[in-house]
Amino acid sequence: MQAQEIITSKNLGESLRQAVAAIEHDRLFVLTDDTTLKLCWSEVCALPCLSEANVISIPPTDENKSLEALTHVWAELQRGGATRHSMLLCLGGGMVTDLGGFAASTFKRGINYINLPTTLLAMVDASVGGKTGINFGGLKNEIGVFNTARCVILDATFLRTLDLRNILSGYAEMLKHGLISNVEDWAELLSFDFERIDYPHLTEMVGKSVLIKQRIVEEDPLERGIRKALNLGHTAGHALESLALGEGRTVLHGYAVAWGLICELYLSAKRLSFPKDKLQQTVRFIKEHYGSFLIDCKEYDRLYELMTHDKKNTAGQINFTLLADIGDIRINQVVSKEEIMDMLDFFRET
Ligand code: GLY
Repeated sequence: MQAQEIITSKNLGESLRQAVAAIEHDRLFVLTDDTTLKLCWSEVCALPCLSEANVISIPPTDENKSLEALTHVWAELQRGGATRHSMLLCLGGGMVTDLGGFAASTFKRGINYINLPTTLLAMVDASVGGKTGINFGGLKNEIGVFNTARCVILDATFLRTLDLRNILSGYAEMLKHGLISNVEDWAELLSFDFERIDYPHLTEMVGKSVLIKQRIVEEDPLERGIRKALNLGHTAGHALESLALGEGRTVLHGYAVAWGLICELYLSAKRLSFPKDKLQQTVRFIKEHYGSFLIDCKEYDRLYELMTHDKKNTAGQINFTLLADIGDIRINQVVSKEEIMDMLDFFRET
Protein backbone atom coordinates (compact mmCIF):
# COMPACT_ATOMS: atom_id res chain seq x y z
CA MET A 1 0.00 0.00 0.00
CA GLN A 2 1.07 3.50 -0.80
CA ALA A 3 2.45 5.64 2.08
CA GLN A 4 -0.05 8.10 3.43
CA GLU A 5 0.80 11.68 4.25
CA ILE A 6 -0.98 13.05 7.31
CA ILE A 7 -1.12 16.83 7.56
CA THR A 8 -2.03 18.37 10.90
CA SER A 9 -3.36 21.61 9.57
CA LYS A 10 -3.29 25.05 11.19
CA ASN A 11 -4.62 26.76 8.09
CA LEU A 12 -7.17 24.73 6.18
CA GLY A 13 -7.01 26.76 2.96
CA GLU A 14 -3.25 26.53 2.74
CA SER A 15 -3.06 22.83 3.69
CA LEU A 16 -5.69 21.93 1.13
CA ARG A 17 -4.08 24.07 -1.55
CA GLN A 18 -0.74 22.35 -0.99
CA ALA A 19 -2.24 18.87 -0.90
CA VAL A 20 -4.24 19.38 -4.09
CA ALA A 21 -1.28 20.97 -5.89
CA ALA A 22 1.10 18.17 -4.86
CA ILE A 23 -0.90 15.49 -6.65
CA GLU A 24 -1.12 15.77 -10.40
CA HIS A 25 -4.70 15.58 -11.70
CA ASP A 26 -6.84 16.78 -14.59
CA ARG A 27 -10.17 17.25 -12.78
CA LEU A 28 -11.03 17.51 -9.12
CA PHE A 29 -14.22 16.06 -7.65
CA VAL A 30 -15.45 16.59 -4.11
CA LEU A 31 -17.55 13.88 -2.47
CA THR A 32 -19.57 14.89 0.54
CA ASP A 33 -22.92 14.11 2.17
CA ASP A 34 -25.99 16.31 2.51
CA THR A 35 -25.39 17.04 6.22
CA THR A 36 -21.73 17.95 5.75
CA LEU A 37 -22.75 20.09 2.84
CA LYS A 38 -24.98 22.10 5.19
CA LEU A 39 -22.62 22.23 8.18
CA CYS A 40 -19.11 22.34 6.74
CA TRP A 41 -19.21 23.30 3.10
CA SER A 42 -19.15 27.00 4.00
CA GLU A 43 -15.68 26.44 5.54
CA VAL A 44 -14.23 25.27 2.24
CA CYS A 45 -16.39 26.34 -0.71
CA ALA A 46 -14.66 29.69 -1.17
CA LEU A 47 -11.18 28.18 -1.31
CA PRO A 48 -9.63 28.94 -4.71
CA CYS A 49 -8.26 25.38 -5.06
CA LEU A 50 -11.85 24.09 -5.09
CA SER A 51 -13.31 26.68 -7.46
CA GLU A 52 -13.35 24.30 -10.43
CA ALA A 53 -14.30 21.18 -8.50
CA ASN A 54 -17.42 19.13 -9.30
CA VAL A 55 -19.34 18.44 -6.11
CA ILE A 56 -21.07 15.10 -5.58
CA SER A 57 -23.32 14.70 -2.56
CA ILE A 58 -24.84 11.53 -1.14
CA PRO A 59 -27.39 11.06 1.63
CA PRO A 60 -25.84 10.93 5.11
CA THR A 61 -25.53 8.16 7.73
CA ASP A 62 -24.30 4.61 7.71
CA GLU A 63 -27.38 3.06 6.08
CA ASN A 64 -26.41 4.95 2.93
CA LYS A 65 -22.94 3.41 2.85
CA SER A 66 -24.53 1.25 0.22
CA LEU A 67 -24.17 -0.08 -3.29
CA GLU A 68 -26.81 2.46 -4.44
CA ALA A 69 -24.84 5.43 -3.12
CA LEU A 70 -21.62 3.96 -4.55
CA THR A 71 -23.26 3.56 -7.96
CA HIS A 72 -24.39 7.17 -7.77
CA VAL A 73 -20.80 8.32 -7.14
CA TRP A 74 -19.42 6.25 -10.03
CA ALA A 75 -22.17 7.63 -12.30
CA GLU A 76 -21.47 11.22 -11.24
CA LEU A 77 -17.73 10.77 -11.83
CA GLN A 78 -18.49 9.42 -15.28
CA ARG A 79 -21.02 12.18 -16.02
CA GLY A 80 -18.50 14.82 -14.92
CA GLY A 81 -15.89 13.46 -17.32
CA ALA A 82 -13.56 11.93 -14.73
CA THR A 83 -10.54 10.15 -16.19
CA ARG A 84 -7.90 7.84 -14.76
CA HIS A 85 -6.02 11.06 -13.83
CA SER A 86 -8.82 12.74 -11.93
CA MET A 87 -8.81 13.10 -8.17
CA LEU A 88 -11.48 12.80 -5.48
CA LEU A 89 -11.53 14.82 -2.27
CA CYS A 90 -13.64 13.06 0.38
CA LEU A 91 -15.09 15.67 2.73
CA GLY A 92 -17.12 14.25 5.59
CA GLY A 93 -17.29 11.60 8.25
CA GLY A 94 -16.26 7.96 8.07
CA MET A 95 -19.17 7.06 5.85
CA VAL A 96 -17.94 9.48 3.15
CA THR A 97 -14.25 8.60 3.51
CA ASP A 98 -15.00 4.83 3.44
CA LEU A 99 -17.39 4.96 0.50
CA GLY A 100 -15.44 7.67 -1.32
CA GLY A 101 -12.17 5.80 -0.86
CA PHE A 102 -13.78 2.70 -2.34
CA ALA A 103 -15.34 4.64 -5.24
CA ALA A 104 -11.93 6.19 -6.00
CA SER A 105 -10.12 2.85 -5.66
CA THR A 106 -12.39 1.17 -8.18
CA PHE A 107 -13.22 3.93 -10.69
CA LYS A 108 -11.18 3.22 -13.84
CA ARG A 109 -9.17 0.80 -11.65
CA GLY A 110 -8.24 3.53 -9.23
CA ILE A 111 -7.85 7.28 -9.04
CA ASN A 112 -6.08 9.29 -6.33
CA TYR A 113 -8.05 10.53 -3.38
CA ILE A 114 -7.56 12.86 -0.43
CA ASN A 115 -9.45 12.65 2.87
CA LEU A 116 -10.59 15.75 4.68
CA PRO A 117 -12.43 14.30 7.69
CA THR A 118 -14.99 16.50 9.43
CA THR A 119 -15.89 14.27 12.39
CA LEU A 120 -13.68 13.21 15.25
CA LEU A 121 -14.41 9.57 14.46
CA ALA A 122 -13.17 9.98 10.90
CA MET A 123 -10.13 12.02 12.01
CA VAL A 124 -8.82 9.45 14.46
CA ASP A 125 -9.89 6.30 12.68
CA ALA A 126 -11.77 5.99 9.39
CA SER A 127 -9.80 8.43 7.25
CA VAL A 128 -6.41 6.95 8.17
CA GLY A 129 -5.07 3.55 7.17
CA GLY A 130 -6.71 2.75 3.85
CA LYS A 131 -9.72 0.68 4.85
CA THR A 132 -12.40 1.53 2.31
CA GLY A 133 -15.74 -0.06 1.53
CA ILE A 134 -19.49 -0.28 1.85
CA ASN A 135 -22.02 -2.26 3.86
CA PHE A 136 -23.63 -5.19 2.06
CA GLY A 137 -26.10 -7.98 2.79
CA GLY A 138 -26.84 -6.55 6.22
CA LEU A 139 -23.16 -6.62 7.24
CA LYS A 140 -20.94 -3.64 7.86
CA ASN A 141 -17.95 -3.00 5.60
CA GLU A 142 -18.57 -6.30 3.86
CA ILE A 143 -17.22 -5.21 0.47
CA GLY A 144 -14.10 -3.09 0.15
CA VAL A 145 -10.38 -2.82 -0.45
CA PHE A 146 -7.31 -1.61 1.38
CA ASN A 147 -6.08 1.49 -0.42
CA THR A 148 -4.80 4.60 1.35
CA ALA A 149 -5.76 8.17 0.58
CA ARG A 150 -2.71 9.95 -0.81
CA CYS A 151 -3.13 12.50 1.92
CA VAL A 152 -5.26 13.04 5.05
CA ILE A 153 -5.75 16.57 6.33
CA LEU A 154 -6.64 16.92 10.01
CA ASP A 155 -8.07 20.33 10.77
CA ALA A 156 -9.52 21.28 14.14
CA THR A 157 -11.96 23.81 12.59
CA PHE A 158 -14.44 20.99 12.14
CA LEU A 159 -14.29 19.78 15.76
CA ARG A 160 -16.24 22.85 16.80
CA THR A 161 -19.11 21.88 14.47
CA LEU A 162 -19.68 18.64 16.40
CA ASP A 163 -22.17 18.04 19.18
CA LEU A 164 -21.10 16.18 22.34
CA ARG A 165 -22.45 12.83 21.11
CA ASN A 166 -20.28 12.99 18.01
CA ILE A 167 -17.26 14.11 20.01
CA LEU A 168 -17.79 11.14 22.35
CA SER A 169 -18.25 8.78 19.43
CA GLY A 170 -14.81 9.64 18.04
CA TYR A 171 -13.34 9.76 21.53
CA ALA A 172 -14.08 6.04 22.01
CA GLU A 173 -11.55 5.24 19.27
CA MET A 174 -9.07 7.55 21.01
CA LEU A 175 -9.68 5.64 24.23
CA LYS A 176 -8.96 2.42 22.35
CA HIS A 177 -5.69 3.92 21.06
CA GLY A 178 -4.78 4.91 24.63
CA LEU A 179 -5.47 1.39 25.90
CA ILE A 180 -3.22 -0.21 23.30
CA SER A 181 -0.54 2.45 23.79
CA ASN A 182 0.57 3.25 27.35
CA VAL A 183 -0.68 4.19 30.83
CA GLU A 184 0.10 7.93 30.40
CA ASP A 185 -2.02 8.24 27.23
CA TRP A 186 -4.83 6.20 28.82
CA ALA A 187 -4.81 8.28 32.04
CA GLU A 188 -4.82 11.55 30.06
CA LEU A 189 -7.86 10.34 28.13
CA LEU A 190 -9.76 9.39 31.30
CA SER A 191 -9.19 12.82 32.81
CA PHE A 192 -10.55 14.91 29.90
CA ASP A 193 -13.29 17.36 30.89
CA PHE A 194 -16.25 17.11 28.50
CA GLU A 195 -18.18 19.83 30.32
CA ARG A 196 -15.68 22.47 29.28
CA ILE A 197 -14.07 21.13 26.15
CA ASP A 198 -10.57 22.50 25.70
CA TYR A 199 -10.39 22.36 21.89
CA PRO A 200 -6.64 23.09 21.54
CA HIS A 201 -5.93 20.29 24.03
CA LEU A 202 -8.35 17.97 22.23
CA THR A 203 -6.61 18.78 18.94
CA GLU A 204 -3.25 17.87 20.46
CA MET A 205 -4.69 14.59 21.73
CA VAL A 206 -6.13 13.86 18.27
CA GLY A 207 -2.65 14.27 16.74
CA LYS A 208 -1.19 11.86 19.30
CA SER A 209 -3.99 9.38 18.76
CA VAL A 210 -3.61 9.35 14.98
CA LEU A 211 0.12 8.74 15.36
CA ILE A 212 -0.60 5.59 17.41
CA LYS A 213 -2.80 4.30 14.60
CA GLN A 214 -0.40 5.36 11.86
CA ARG A 215 2.54 3.50 13.44
CA ILE A 216 0.53 0.29 13.65
CA VAL A 217 -0.81 0.60 10.10
CA GLU A 218 2.69 1.21 8.72
CA GLU A 219 3.90 -1.96 10.42
CA ASP A 220 1.00 -4.09 9.18
CA PRO A 221 -1.06 -2.32 6.50
CA LEU A 222 -3.11 -5.38 5.50
CA GLU A 223 -4.01 -6.50 9.01
CA ARG A 224 -2.15 -9.80 8.97
CA GLY A 225 -0.98 -9.31 12.56
CA ILE A 226 -0.51 -6.32 14.85
CA ARG A 227 -3.10 -4.14 13.07
CA LYS A 228 -5.67 -6.39 14.71
CA ALA A 229 -4.84 -4.42 17.88
CA LEU A 230 -6.97 -1.65 16.38
CA ASN A 231 -9.97 -3.96 16.64
CA LEU A 232 -9.95 -3.89 20.43
CA GLY A 233 -13.56 -3.36 21.52
CA HIS A 234 -14.87 -3.95 18.01
CA THR A 235 -15.77 -7.66 18.05
CA ALA A 236 -18.35 -7.11 20.77
CA GLY A 237 -18.93 -3.49 19.69
CA HIS A 238 -19.91 -4.36 16.12
CA ALA A 239 -22.28 -7.05 17.39
CA LEU A 240 -23.99 -4.56 19.73
CA GLU A 241 -24.14 -2.01 16.91
CA SER A 242 -25.69 -4.50 14.48
CA LEU A 243 -28.16 -5.69 17.14
CA ALA A 244 -29.20 -2.09 17.75
CA LEU A 245 -29.56 -1.45 14.03
CA GLY A 246 -31.75 -4.53 13.62
CA GLU A 247 -34.00 -3.36 16.46
CA GLY A 248 -34.25 0.21 15.16
CA ARG A 249 -32.27 1.59 18.13
CA THR A 250 -29.93 4.32 16.92
CA VAL A 251 -26.42 3.93 18.23
CA LEU A 252 -23.37 5.89 17.11
CA HIS A 253 -20.42 3.69 16.18
CA GLY A 254 -18.14 5.01 18.92
CA TYR A 255 -20.74 4.32 21.60
CA ALA A 256 -20.87 0.69 20.50
CA VAL A 257 -17.05 0.59 20.57
CA ALA A 258 -17.03 2.02 24.10
CA TRP A 259 -19.49 -0.67 25.25
CA GLY A 260 -17.44 -3.25 23.32
CA LEU A 261 -14.39 -2.11 25.30
CA ILE A 262 -16.23 -2.91 28.55
CA CYS A 263 -16.89 -6.43 27.25
CA GLU A 264 -13.41 -7.05 25.95
CA LEU A 265 -11.54 -5.61 28.93
CA TYR A 266 -13.62 -7.92 31.09
CA LEU A 267 -12.50 -10.86 28.93
CA SER A 268 -8.94 -9.52 29.20
CA ALA A 269 -9.18 -9.49 32.99
CA LYS A 270 -10.61 -13.04 33.07
CA ARG A 271 -8.16 -14.62 30.65
CA LEU A 272 -5.04 -12.50 30.82
CA SER A 273 -5.22 -10.89 34.26
CA PHE A 274 -5.70 -7.38 32.89
CA PRO A 275 -5.57 -5.31 36.14
CA LYS A 276 -8.98 -5.09 37.81
CA ASP A 277 -8.47 -1.48 38.96
CA LYS A 278 -7.83 -0.34 35.37
CA LEU A 279 -10.86 -2.31 34.22
CA GLN A 280 -12.99 -0.59 36.85
CA GLN A 281 -11.68 2.90 36.05
CA THR A 282 -12.32 2.41 32.34
CA VAL A 283 -15.79 0.96 32.92
CA ARG A 284 -16.65 3.88 35.23
CA PHE A 285 -15.53 6.41 32.61
CA ILE A 286 -17.52 4.70 29.86
CA LYS A 287 -20.66 4.38 31.96
CA GLU A 288 -20.45 8.01 33.02
CA HIS A 289 -20.06 9.36 29.49
CA TYR A 290 -21.70 6.78 27.22
CA GLY A 291 -24.44 5.49 29.51
CA SER A 292 -25.65 1.91 29.28
CA PHE A 293 -26.92 -0.22 26.45
CA LEU A 294 -29.63 -2.56 27.71
CA ILE A 295 -29.50 -6.14 26.55
CA ASP A 296 -31.63 -9.10 27.45
CA CYS A 297 -30.40 -12.70 27.92
CA LYS A 298 -32.71 -13.63 25.03
CA GLU A 299 -30.43 -11.59 22.74
CA TYR A 300 -27.21 -13.43 23.64
CA ASP A 301 -27.53 -16.01 20.85
CA ARG A 302 -28.13 -13.28 18.27
CA LEU A 303 -25.10 -11.33 19.58
CA TYR A 304 -22.99 -14.48 19.43
CA GLU A 305 -24.15 -15.14 15.89
CA LEU A 306 -23.25 -11.57 14.90
CA MET A 307 -19.75 -12.05 16.34
CA THR A 308 -19.25 -15.09 14.10
CA HIS A 309 -19.24 -12.66 11.11
CA ASP A 310 -16.23 -10.71 12.39
CA LYS A 311 -13.50 -10.44 9.74
CA LYS A 312 -10.78 -11.48 12.22
CA ASN A 313 -12.31 -14.93 12.69
CA THR A 314 -10.54 -18.00 11.37
CA ALA A 315 -11.91 -21.50 10.80
CA GLY A 316 -15.22 -20.69 12.48
CA GLN A 317 -13.56 -19.57 15.71
CA ILE A 318 -14.20 -16.12 17.17
CA ASN A 319 -10.93 -14.23 17.52
CA PHE A 320 -10.59 -11.30 19.88
CA THR A 321 -7.85 -8.77 20.45
CA LEU A 322 -7.30 -8.57 24.21
CA LEU A 323 -4.87 -6.90 26.63
CA ALA A 324 -2.76 -8.37 29.43
CA ASP A 325 -2.25 -4.78 30.57
CA ILE A 326 -2.44 -1.35 29.03
CA GLY A 327 -0.18 -1.48 25.97
CA ASP A 328 0.35 -5.25 26.34
CA ILE A 329 -1.56 -6.45 23.28
CA ARG A 330 -2.55 -10.07 22.61
CA ILE A 331 -4.08 -10.67 19.19
CA ASN A 332 -5.79 -13.86 17.93
CA GLN A 333 -7.36 -14.84 21.23
CA VAL A 334 -9.83 -17.60 20.47
CA VAL A 335 -12.73 -17.29 22.89
CA SER A 336 -15.32 -19.99 23.54
CA LYS A 337 -19.08 -19.51 23.40
CA GLU A 338 -19.24 -20.04 27.15
CA GLU A 339 -16.76 -17.23 27.81
CA ILE A 340 -18.70 -14.96 25.47
CA MET A 341 -21.92 -15.68 27.38
CA ASP A 342 -20.10 -14.87 30.63
CA MET A 343 -18.82 -11.63 29.08
CA LEU A 344 -22.37 -10.69 28.06
CA ASP A 345 -23.57 -11.36 31.63
CA PHE A 346 -20.92 -8.97 32.92
CA PHE A 347 -21.95 -6.34 30.38
CA ARG A 348 -25.66 -6.73 31.13
CA GLU A 349 -25.10 -6.44 34.87
CA THR A 350 -22.67 -3.50 34.66
N1 GLY B 1 -10.48 0.77 12.30
C1 GLY B 1 -9.45 -0.16 12.50
C2 GLY B 1 -8.43 -0.16 11.44
O1 GLY B 1 -8.35 0.77 10.65
O2 GLY B 1 -7.68 -1.10 11.33
